[in-house]
Amino acid sequence: MLSFPDGFMWGVATAGHQIEGANVFSDWYAWEHQGKVKNGDTSDVACGSWEHLERDLEAIKALGVNAYRFSVEWARIEPKVNRFEDSVIERYKDFVTMLIENGVQPILTLNHFVLPQWFSEIGGWEDRENLPYFRRFVSRIVSSMGENIHYWVTINEPNVYAVMSYLMGEWPPEIKDMGRAMRVLANLLYAHSEAYDVIKESNPLSMVGVAVNMMPFFPLRTFHPGDRIVSKYLDRVYNYSFLDSLKNGKMIRPLGTGEAVSGISSKLDYLGINYYTRMFAKYAKPLPEIVVGDEFEKTEMGYEFFPQGIEDLVLKAYNRYELPIMITENGIADGTDKRRWEYIETALKSLRDAMDKGARVFGYIYWSLMDNFEWKEGYSMKFGLYETVRENLELRPRGSADKFRDFIRESLS
Ligand code: NOJ
Repeated sequence: MLSFPDGFMWGVATAGHQIEGANVFSDWYAWEHQGKVKNGDTSDVACGSWEHLERDLEAIKALGVNAYRFSVEWARIEPKVNRFEDSVIERYKDFVTMLIENGVQPILTLNHFVLPQWFSEIGGWEDRENLPYFRRFVSRIVSSMGENIHYWVTINEPNVYAVMSYLMGEWPPEIKDMGRAMRVLANLLYAHSEAYDVIKESNPLSMVGVAVNMMPFFPLRTFHPGDRIVSKYLDRVYNYSFLDSLKNGKMIRPLGTGEAVSGISSKLDYLGINYYTRMFAKYAKPLPEIVVGDEFEKTEMGYEFFPQGIEDLVLKAYNRYELPIMITENGIADGTDKRRWEYIETALKSLRDAMDKGARVFGYIYWSLMDNFEWKEGYSMKFGLYETVRENLELRPRGSADKFRDFIRESLS
């Protein structure tokens, strides 16, 4: 049996837009209704969580976890600019209270990809002048429920957002432009720093972090010099450029040109890591290629089944930043549930190995509590410990939910 330190945080994660349903004033909602998502899916229903918070709470409790990571939806809270919906805030606040009363620590994400439509119409994260709107939204959250939140994630996967929405053009607003993607990433860094200040001002002891998606890149042809250079470059840009800038207080390339920026340095109390898989890089012109390896079976997402990659990745991140680490997401799309537990168990063993080698890790949060709206993949990708039965929105525990519960129970005893 693997043992984890006392007080280790065990949790599951979701995000507002992916579970609540009918987030009608958001940029994603508008985009989905143009038929952009696989099978024409939309998040109108999602998991119906806005109506079924009690159901979610029961599912969380049944797992025996002591933490739940979720997000507040800015588009619900401020559907039109300057119009704040207090009843919506109250509802989130009540949910936080319910979690705490049941011994579950809330981990609150402030922005998980989705924006109010009005914010996106004025340029979203691309325009630095828009940041005061975000700051004001964060202030509202902090003043209403902040005293009950100890763990914060300011921005979810800034690197994924910049890549998917502004470099690959796969997500709204479908831009394909490296320069604009880097501007967005830089502004997300400022947004993070501002949110950090707002939270710490009123709640100095809280733990404020960011959740970065980390994916190691390897050279496709081990000894090919071009592949080696490209994989190193991608590793640095994708995994570290945001965090290195934050750590050093300057916008390192390609976020900027190395210029020092006041007010961002070291604004991180812990590092949130979302880990799923690895990738390979191949030198090519005009642009390098990113390739999925073929050593291991592919998951339903088309990723290599590679949970063990978490060990090296966490050790490297710890040695680079010397910050305590929370695994803010780790998971697999597996509608059959045949390999989910093997994935989790292997990741946990590897995480334990990283900790034995010195990495300070204080939590593991599985993605996700239940099958939900997986962005452009719609409902086709099933990451849940619970199956969300589409007909009646019942949450049905999968075998891996029982395994996870038993594992946590042992570990906490
Ligand atoms: C990362 C994202 O934060 C989350 O929204 C997504 O559903 C999972 N990974 C799975 O792809």
